[in-house]
Amino acid sequence: MTVNGERHEADVEPRTTLVDFLRGTLGLTGTHVGCEHGVCGACTVLWNGKAVRSCIMLAVQADGAELKTVEGLADGPTLHPIQRAFLEKHGLQCGFCTPGFMISVYELLSRTSTPTDEEITDTLGGHICRCTGYQSIVEAVHVAVEKMRTK
Ligand code: FES
Ligand code: FES
Repeated sequence: MTVNGERHEADVEPRTTLVDFLRGTLGLTGTHVGCEHGVCGACTVLWNGKAVRSCIMLAVQADGAELKTVEGLADGPTLHPIQRAFLEKHGLQCGFCTPGFMISVYELLSRTSTPTDEEITDTLGGHICRCTGYQSIVEAVHVAVEKMRTK
């Protein structure tokens, strides 16, 4: 599989989940594990361009896939516009949910540079945040849209 542009090959137990492989084998601990049931969204990664829950996928299913995790958003020391927007609008507190939110927002903004409020709500609706009350996250997405339009 390719993760954040880097090719990886490994033998894995058939039962190893993708999130455990990313975190445990590749050391990409930016992808978080919350519910482990496909509900909270903390473990969301990009799989061939689509946002998926890596806690309910097996690592072996990713054979040959192109993945992107939150570590792949920044360009070296330069934060991605989505990351800058979350920072500026305080779209995070403890940060546990944040990588998943960012990956889903990244997928949304890869599909459209002018998302409707409904599309934004639909995207964020698949994620649970216990800290922010969501409003600052919605504002961060609007700022991210603006930043990506003008970058
Ligand atoms: S940890 Fe995967 S959806 Fe909650
Ligand atoms: S910032 Fe703490 S769970 Fe979202």
